[in-house]
This record gives sequence, structure tokens and C-alpha cells, in this order.
Amino acid sequence: MANIWIIGASSGIGAALAVALAAEGHSVVISARRTDLLSEVSGQSPRPGAIVPLPLDVRDRSTLESAATQVFTRFGRLDYCFLNAGKYELSRAGMDPTVYAEVTRVNYLGVVECLAVVIPRLIQQGSGQVLVTASVAGYRGLPQAGAYGPTKAALISLCETLAVELKPRGVTVRVINPGFIRTPMTAKNRFYMPFLIGAEDAAQRILRALPSKRFEIAFPWQMIFIMKIMRMLPNRLYLWMMAKIAPTPSAFDQSGSV
Ligand SMILES: NC(=O)c1ccc[n+]([C@@H]2O[C@H](COP(=O)([O-])OP(=O)(O)OC[C@H]3O[C@@H](n4cnc5c(N)ncnc54)[C@H](OP(=O)(O)O)[C@@H]3O)[C@@H](O)[C@H]2O)c1
Repeated sequence: MANIWIIGASSGIGAALAVALAAEGHSVVISARRTDLLSEVSGQSPRPGAIVPLPLDVRDRSTLESAATQVFTRFGRLDYCFLNAGKYELSRAGMDPTVYAEVTRVNYLGVVECLAVVIPRLIQQGSGQVLVTASVAGYRGLPQAGAYGPTKAALISLCETLAVELKPRGVTVRVINPGFIRTPMTAKNRFYMPFLIGAEDAAQRILRALPSKRFEIAFPWQMIFIMKIMRMLPNRLYLWMMAKIAPTPSAFDQSGSV
């Protein structure tokens, strides 16, 4: 049975994944900022004590360092580390640098901070997998995703770099690219979300993909298929199509920031 650390597990995909992994017999440490929700998720464990809460903020280097020490001391060795923490803001056409900075700080730099404390320890043990949750929103620029999308594109790029660099050291780096998943993050969306699936369903898909050696875990396949076609389209055609589905400037103003 594996030892697993999920950062970003107080709700949504991370919480569902923790419960699913514990049900399979694995030992899981779950982290995020909201201690009350972490305790709730821990209480949902099918086996008492299989999910242990460890609060932290990915923006806070000092708590991350001590959290990593606690996890490695507890487990002895870590098999899987999910870097799943994320923040989503719809961005308006008039850019607010504060929003962009905060989303980048959590989604991209937060992952970098986590990697900085986890990777040296995995190199030392000579094994282990890091799975970073990016998004299909990182495949190409999407309307209203100016703050969020580039952080996910950056994560995909970073994972590609690290997968190559760390393989000779025995450490596997993989990326998880979900489409639309029903979680507190997407509950605020007022637009139609194609091929939406539940968080428990997403967790099961991740669970099933774990034993494979594939670099990318992406689902649901319908959304992935469409987005991968989009990625291959010439810029002119892609931008024309996006202009057709983008909200009008007035709708944009009303939609606000979520
Ligand atoms: N839902 C989707 O459609 C979808 C699609 C593609 C990718 N994703 C990605 O999937 C991941 C999980 O999202 P979700 O949909 O499950 O949403 P969620 O329920 O809002 O989960 C986000 C998680 O990130 C944690 N988090 C946020 N800021 C943090 C911080 N500063 N430090 C530590 N933890 C922090 C949250 O916990 P606290 O607030 O308690 O800290 C929560 O556990 C995110 O990376 C998201 O971008 C989601």
C-alpha cells in the first residue's frame, strides 16, 4: 500500500481523491488552509486514521518545509505527492494585476514552492511520483481565462521539463489535466460547462490511471479530444472560433470576477 500526500485536498477533486485512495487501502496525508474542512475529509475516511490532516498554505515557504519534514518522518518514504492546490478567477478584459499575481502565486509559484521541498527528498530516497494538477485550460488561450489559463500552461511546461530532468534520479513527474469538474471552484460558473463530471468520478479516473506510466492523465476524453484538436488548429482559425464563443463586452462586464 502506498504513502500519499495530497496538497489541495480540503474540497473538490483533492478531497474526493483522498477518500478514494484511503478506500483502496492507502495512507494519505491531506493539506490545504481550511482546517475544519480537512478534518471533515479525514472523517470521511472508510478506515479510521487512514487520512491525516496537515494544514498549510502553499504561499508560505516556512510551513511547507516543516510540513514536508512531518510527512517524510511519518511515512519514512513517500510514494505519491499530488500538487493539486488551485485558485480560479474569471478575468475581465481590463486587467487587474493584483488578481493575476494572486492566481499565479497559488497556482504556479505555490506548486514551485511545494516542489522545492518535495523533490530533494524524493531524489534522496531515489523514487516517488509527483502529480501536478494543471488543466485543459492550459492547452491554449481561452476567453476570460487570462489570469488562470497561463498558470496552467506554465505548469504543463514545467512538468515536461522536470519529467525529463528527474527521470534519471528515479523521480517521476506527471501532469493531470481535467476538463470541467463539478467542485466548489466551478460552482460559481454561470456559463455552460461541456462534459461536466463529478469530483468522485474525476477521483476514480485518476486512481485508475495511477499504475500506468503515462505522463499525462487527462479526462473526460470528449473534452480532451476537442481541446487537443483546438491545439492543432492554425492561429487564424482558432482565434476566429474563439471570437464566436467569447462573451460580448457587455456580458463580460456583468459576469464579474468569480
Ligand atoms: N474543477 C474543475 O473544473 C477543474 C478543471 C481543471 C483543473 N482543475 C484544478 O484542479 C485543482 C483542484 O480544484 P477543484 O476543482 O477541486 O477546486 P476546489 O474544491 O476549490 O479545491 C481547491 C483546493 O486548493 C486548495 N488551496 C487553494 N489555495 C490554497 C493555498 N494557498 N494553500 C493551500 N491550499 C490551497 C483549497 O483549499 P483551501 O482553500 O482550504 O486552502 C482546495 O483544497 C485545482 O488546481 C484546479 O485548478 C479544476
